[in-house]
Amino acid sequence: MVNLQLASFLLFVSCIHFISSHQRIYCVIKTFGQNLATRALTVHQTWANRCDKHVFLIATNLTKWNNTILPILNLFDVGDNYVELSIKVFDAINLIIQQPQPYDFDWLLMADDDTYIIMENLRQLLYETSEPLAFGHVFAPNNGAPVHLSGGAGYVINTVALKRMLPNLQTTCSQWYVPGMEDVYVSRCLQHLNVTLDGAIDGLHHRFFPLELLSLYYMEYPQWYLDYNTLKTYPGFDCCSTQSISFHYMTREWMNLIEWTRYLDETK
Ligand SMILES: *[C@@H]1O[C@H](CO)[C@@H](O)[C@H](O)[C@H]1NC(C)=O
Ligand SMILES: *[C@@H]1O[C@H](CO)[C@@H](O)[C@H](O)[C@H]1NC(C)=O
Ligand SMILES: *[C@@H]1O[C@H](CO)[C@@H](O)[C@H](O)[C@H]1NC(C)=O
Repeated sequence: MVNLQLASFLLFVSCIHFISSHQRIYCVIKTFGQNLATRALTVHQTWANRCDKHVFLIATNLTKWNNTILPILNLFDVGDNYVELSIKVFDAINLIIQQPQPYDFDWLLMADDDTYIIMENLRQLLYETSEPLAFGHVFAPNNGAPVHLSGGAGYVINTVALKRMLPNLQTTCSQWYVPGMEDVYVSRCLQHLNVTLDGAIDGLHHRFFPLELLSLYYMEYPQWYLDYNTLKTYPGFDCCSTQSISFHYMTREWMNLIEWTRYLDETK
């Protein structure tokens, strides 16, 4: 009898622990119709499967001949191009925030189809809080452009912050709901709503990276990165946090290689 009580107590404790620590992540991957069969498919077959749910964001008329198996969020009133990416992302967030509450996720992740996310490390970062919060790679441009989260590195926004966008973004962030730099405009909207933009710094290092792993390893930085970066840089594997979460400009081969090495032992 005592053992039974102890067992149910332990079960109860571990359930509480599970409930408070498991943050549900809804991943939205920005892509284009013409990338569905290539980059998007690889993302779907690799890291996106570790999201609690995920969709690929496109704005393309699909037919039955496209034969896609991917989960898709399709927007029809916007061009499937880079110039209108800000509109596409605002449209998507607008649809997502207007779902009935309570939401079935705790964090919304926005990433590109050439971003690789190490989901375990992202999960380690996220926690339940009543503060409106967004994590990502915080750029502090020295050319006068505003502080913002890098789009390529991916960023996560909690539902506390998303609820501040209600009733809709046309009302709460209308001045940025226009064609332009998606990451700058989403960041401006978040700042306007007093959402904290957190750079997820791990001691000396970033955890979200807007560059590909080898550029960081060899310190082959494009000038814009040097202009935007806020931390000292180091060569080799000192480039990056051991708890790194994301890398940008990752090829399909890179993604498959990481999967193979990290998850080789996993029974599928
Ligand atoms: C969908 O299929 C049609 C017909 O084969 C093709 O013209 C179109 O490019 C495809 N669209 C995408 C996004 O792959
Ligand atoms: C998609 O379909 C709609 C409705 O049929 C049409 O108005 C629009 O021009 C189409 N867009 C593209 C990119 O073909
Ligand atoms: C953000 O903070 C400012 C200054 O404290 C305040 O005036 C404003 O109402 C806040 N906005 C929101 C949406 O909380």
